[in-house]
Amino acid sequence: MADSKQRILITGMAGFIGYHLAKKLGREGFDVYGVDSINDYYSTKLKKDRLLDLGVAVGPTDIGWISNPNKNIHFLQADLSKSDECARVFEGDHYDALVHLAAQPGVRKSISHPAIYFQSNLVATYNLLEQLKDSPQTALLMASSSSVYGHSSDTPYTESQQTDAPVSLYAATKKSTEIIAHYYAHQYKIDTSMLRFFTVYGPWGRPDMAVYGFFDKIMNGEEIKVFNQGDLKRDFTYISDIVDNLHLLLLNRLNKTKEDTTTSYEIYNIGNQSPVKLLDFISLIEKIANKKAKKAFLPMQPGDVYETYADSNKLKQLLHFDYNTPLEKGLTKFYEWYKTYHTINTKALQSHE
Ligand SMILES: NC(=O)c1ccc[n+]([C@@H]2O[C@H](COP(=O)([O-])OP(=O)(O)OC[C@H]3O[C@@H](n4cnc5c(N)ncnc54)[C@H](O)[C@@H]3O)[C@@H](O)[C@H]2O)c1
Repeated sequence: MADSKQRILITGMAGFIGYHLAKKLGREGFDVYGVDSINDYYSTKLKKDRLLDLGVAVGPTDIGWISNPNKNIHFLQADLSKSDECARVFEGDHYDALVHLAAQPGVRKSISHPAIYFQSNLVATYNLLEQLKDSPQTALLMASSSSVYGHSSDTPYTESQQTDAPVSLYAATKKSTEIIAHYYAHQYKIDTSMLRFFTVYGPWGRPDMAVYGFFDKIMNGEEIKVFNQGDLKRDFTYISDIVDNLHLLLLNRLNKTKEDTTTSYEIYNIGNQSPVKLLDFISLIEKIANKKAKKAFLPMQPGDVYETYADSNKLKQLLHFDYNTPLEKGLTKFYEWYKTYHTINTKALQSHE
């Protein structure tokens, strides 16, 4: 168990990964502080339901921190791209660590709505780093993305290979924040771990991503879009493997010893190391849902990459961690959650009719 006084700030706590991490850290005895703007990129109901599951009920007029009944998870609705709202998050005692997950994700939207990516990925990160420079004892764990590897065919991807040719604005903002955070780590001695996540999925997942979208469409008898005629591969990584890695890395950074040979800025891949072909992935979903998909085969989408494939050995060796959720098991867990969540919400909707 952690020292109960350790205060961890999670940005993007109403988001998919932030919610799961908050739940885990709350259970492990940390004092968790979460921030999120609860934007409407996807269902705000899903984001508020995740917070409710953490014991935090967000009202229409909450303007300060609110806490769960156990008083170990706290939440503030704030837009980090606004410097005054970001500054409010840092009023009071210092945080032992900041896990920065808030961002505007998604490749397609970065083509149609580029400005949001500059605000939520670049300006918000800059505002946070400006706050951290006065608090260099706060360890920083920060989300980047496998998208920084662009169209590289040099697989599996290792952290040391070149990542200066992003093919989407989303990837370009993620790569930019990696570089900006390097400057802050160097100048202000902020202990920084940059984490390149590979296609994360699981219960409470994001409706804009393939796992949720495909199950949803197949269950509702709608057509699914199969891009690049199905000739794509993804290194699907189950949420609890991501969260277990983050928890162990957090402990590692909080208990950093004098013998620690890591530098103040390290990049780590977090990925399952087992890419799956898109058509095999769809077959697995059909098997689990016991329903055939209607498929529309389409060309490659702008901004998309052909393959993601992590070499995660650097972090595995540091943490002695092994990924232990095969895709079929993870998809089954997602499907169980999906059915329960949608049954509850359909019943709730019907009861209001
Ligand atoms: N899920 C994946 O497969 C994946 C893969 C690679 C990288 N990542 C990165 O991991 C992080 C978490 O991803 P996720 O899947 O949980 O996404 P998510 O969209 O579910 O969560 C992000 C949260 O950040 C919040 N947010 C956005 N802009 C904000 C702002 N200006 N101020 C405050 N809050 C803001 C959103 O409301 C959202 O709840 C992101 O940085 C994402 O780029 C995710």
